[in-house]
Amino acid sequence: MYSHIVCALLCLLPNITVILSMWDEWWTYDGISGPSRWGSYNTEWELCDKGRFQSPIDINPARMIFDPNLQPLNITNEKIDGVLMNTGHDIRISLNKSHGSQINITGGPLSYKYTIYQIKLHLGTENDKGSEHKVAGKAFPAEIQLLAYNSELYANVTHAKKSPYGIAVVAILAALKDLGNQHFSVLVRAAEKLKEKGLFTDLYKFSLSEILPTTLSYITYEGSLTQPGCQETATWVILNRPMYISNYQLEKLRGLTRGNGIGDPLMENNFRPVQPDNRRLVRTNIPVKEEPDCDIKKTTSYTVNNKLKPS
Ligand SMILES: *[C@@H]1O[C@H](CO)[C@@H](O)[C@H](O)[C@H]1NC(C)=O
Ligand SMILES: *[C@@H]1O[C@H](CO)[C@@H](O)[C@H](O)[C@H]1NC(C)=O
Ligand SMILES: *[C@@H]1O[C@H](CO)[C@@H](O)[C@H](O)[C@H]1NC(C)=O
Ligand SMILES: *[C@@H]1O[C@H](CO)[C@@H](O)[C@H](O)[C@H]1NC(C)=O
Repeated sequence: MYSHIVCALLCLLPNITVILSMWDEWWTYDGISGPSRWGSYNTEWELCDKGRFQSPIDINPARMIFDPNLQPLNITNEKIDGVLMNTGHDIRISLNKSHGSQINITGGPLSYKYTIYQIKLHLGTENDKGSEHKVAGKAFPAEIQLLAYNSELYANVTHAKKSPYGIAVVAILAALKDLGNQHFSVLVRAAEKLKEKGLFTDLYKFSLSEILPTTLSYITYEGSLTQPGCQETATWVILNRPMYISNYQLEKLRGLTRGNGIGDPLMENNFRPVQPDNRRLVRTNIPVKEEPDCDIKKTTSYTVNNKLKPS
């Protein structure tokens, strides 16, 4: 890859800030411009290295705190008009703002209204990796993220990303099943046309609600965006039920490349490794009575300070 070589050279220059703006697209998920280097490439991405509230994390069910005050999450049920694009980093839907089909997220742990601006897909080469978040050390074959910005406080995504309570991300972990979510095939079929980086296609009236698992329970914590600049303004909400995806669907997505020609590297393995949780609070509303189809098992462990115990 050319960009890798050029990048290695530029890193040696003493003053590179002027040319950094063109680097926006140059980071990767492996090699010399991979996740462990993001923070040193661009001063605006410092948090990727130095941040203490980074995402994704490995969710330890034994450390989750049950919070009965967590409200049900409310995602409005509109159909999406947008553009599905192979960015080289991921396959994503950017929602058409002008088309009036705005999807808002409220409730849950959120105190503001958030409007979805992008839907991103992360996946791996094998079935035991691909998701960004892990649960008890285990990764899932894919993760779908609904990225939303605080449209009550901020005029646009750029502003929201660097502002308090700017972003909310709803994450759906994907699990394998013989028969994958049929509606997800609409996306897969559209994505198949986007083998090369930079290709895009219009997506009309895509129904988000048909790929969202029906569950009221979730896990939430405060973290960051998982791509540069890793801004620590994101409230994460991880749904407590997977979306089902078939091997066939997964294989089709794994065939996408992050280049512009034959022999280019595949896009797969576009997940950031888990980051230290630094004793962060991870809350859940998973009810004590487990849902029958629940994949993320609840274990609560309370340690009560002796001084607080009634004598
Ligand atoms: C969900 O949001 C919609 C639109 O803002 C609102 O009309 C509805 O009452 C909300 N539902 C719940 C359960 O909060
Ligand atoms: C979305 O907007 C772009 C440009 O703003 C337009 O070219 C495209 O046709 C729109 N797509 C849909 C699905 O509305
Ligand atoms: C979502 O929020 C936006 C911005 O506040 C608003 O214009 C839009 O009508 C809302 N959509 C729905 C479906 O409630
Ligand atoms: C985003 O909003 C900020 C603050 O309202 C404004 O200064 C900036 O120009 C806007 N940026 C874009 C890209 O619209």
